[in-house]
Amino acid sequence: MVRLETERLILRELTMEDVPALNAVDGDPEVARWNGFDPPSLDGTRGYLESVIKDAGQSPRQYYTLAIVTRTDNRLIGRCGFDRGGPDLLAGMVGYCLHRDLWGQGYMTEAVRALVDFGFRELELHRIWAECDPDNIGSWRVLEKVGMRREGHMIESFRYPSGEWVDSYHYAILAREWAAVNG
Ligand SMILES: CC(C)(COP(=O)(O)OP(=O)(O)OC[C@H]1O[C@@H](n2cnc3c(N)ncnc32)[C@H](O)[C@@H]1OP(=O)(O)O)[C@@H](O)C(=O)NCCC(=O)NCCS
Repeated sequence: MVRLETERLILRELTMEDVPALNAVDGDPEVARWNGFDPPSLDGTRGYLESVIKDAGQSPRQYYTLAIVTRTDNRLIGRCGFDRGGPDLLAGMVGYCLHRDLWGQGYMTEAVRALVDFGFRELELHRIWAECDPDNIGSWRVLEKVGMRREGHMIESFRYPSGEWVDSYHYAILAREWAAVNG
């Protein structure tokens, strides 16, 4: 069971009780748009959470999808996590999304910083990476603010549900680079 604490947030395992709050995040068309899927119904979120909870029980664990909850009022405001892959599961791809009402207050930078730190310290990952749409400025700013490096600009590498092909930025950071800055 993973539980991480930051100044304003708790990152914890998701449960089926999170269906309505998570649907309020993922079901927002503006959030879904950048995530590259159609907004899920409540049933869609229920099915997603069932798979997240099943994945959390696997050994070795490949997927770490965590709820982002505010410490002050215990409100679920988003999610973030890793998809581990590569040799011996030593590379982790980061993904995240936040309730639209709370964008621009530094919450995701705070959450992703804690997640990356967990990935390097506890999971002993070698490399952590992420991809995002160049037009999604808030997303790649989060990656840069936690110290990740833009390593590539892929041309028409991602296809949205609308059928539109878009470019992707590829960001990454290595364990030794994280340790050099964060101890
Ligand atoms: C991307 C997302 C997670 C960012 O979360 P957030 O908590 O708002 O991010 P933060 O506040 O920590 O940081 C965002 C940074 O981007 C900047 N930013 C956001 N939109 C911007 C824009 N249109 N132009 C310039 N800068 C922008 C913010 O100013 C901030 O930088 P600063 O602190 O230097 O000012 C959130 O917008 C979201 O959930 N989006 C929808 C889902 C999504 O895109 N997921 C990622 C898919 S790759």
